[in-house]
Amino acid sequence: VAPAAQGAAPTADWLGLAGRRVLVAGTGGIGAACAAALADAGARVAAADVDRERLASLDERVHRLHGDLGRPDGCAKVVDEALAALGGIDVLVHAVGINHRTPVLEVTDDDWRHVLDVNLSSAFWLGRAVGAGMVTAGYGRQVYCSSVSGLLAHPDHGPYAATTGGLNQLVRVMAREWASYGVTVNAVAPGYTETDLTRHHLDAPGVREHYTSLVPAGRLGRVDDLTGPVLFLASQQAAFVTGHVLYVDGGRTLV
Ligand SMILES: NC(=O)c1ccc[n+]([C@@H]2O[C@H](COP(=O)([O-])OP(=O)(O)OC[C@H]3O[C@@H](n4cnc5c(N)ncnc54)[C@H](O)[C@@H]3O)[C@@H](O)[C@H]2O)c1
Repeated sequence: VAPAAQGAAPTADWLGLAGRRVLVAGTGGIGAACAAALADAGARVAAADVDRERLASLDERVHRLHGDLGRPDGCAKVVDEALAALGGIDVLVHAVGINHRTPVLEVTDDDWRHVLDVNLSSAFWLGRAVGAGMVTAGYGRQVYCSSVSGLLAHPDHGPYAATTGGLNQLVRVMAREWASYGVTVNAVAPGYTETDLTRHHLDAPGVREHYTSLVPAGRLGRVDDLTGPVLFLASQQAAFVTGHVLYVDGGRTLV
């Protein structure tokens, strides 16, 4: 895909995503919306999840891959299958995450390891495997879902906050190491967004209203709020943007 000429008016493929080969890891609310938006932009998309029902409900244009991304062998299997299906990977979107809302004093070792493996180690295992091919190819875009919890100290979010803060730093180091190879690495950091990750918690009496009151924009996030920022960071328009954590939070981190 040719880079956009400087000063040229936007074209139908302004993002330069047509024909790009994309692996989306995690097909919950945000991952599924991004997979569909990337397919809309003309990309060839494969998407992976451990949950077969979520895979089955994906946009029909998306190639489905089953795997446990909380394990190194699961990540390797998914990357191998994506490479076989697509012939290469130009873009990685990481949207895998779990959260056990528990005070630190009650977090078990098993819970700690599980959240770290699924949220942070999966980013390392996938980013490293996909990054190797991108560095060789001299082109790549990696976009990770971090969180406002990587910055703010939400109670009952110890392991989750540690993984999102750690993810921000992993993104910055990969960005620095691969910048000279044409590979950019960035994150989006959503505020509370209505998906299966948050819905149960938000449905408790008064919780949705409380979190909404903390957002200057006056509402919680929707998955469609994430697709534009993710597609931009995955695009040729973001060639000189790397190591960035883009808060998509309606101003939540301003207060
Ligand atoms: N929804 C929010 O409010 C919010 C806010 C900040 C950050 N995020 C981040 O955005 C990303 C996407 O979250 P979401 O809101 O779409 O959540 P979601 O629960 O809808 O989706 C997460 C997906 O990860 C998958 N997954 C979990 N464990 C897995 C494993 N071991 N192997 C493979 N897949 C696995 C789940 O099956 C699910 O499809 C996550 O990284 C999350 O931390 C979400």
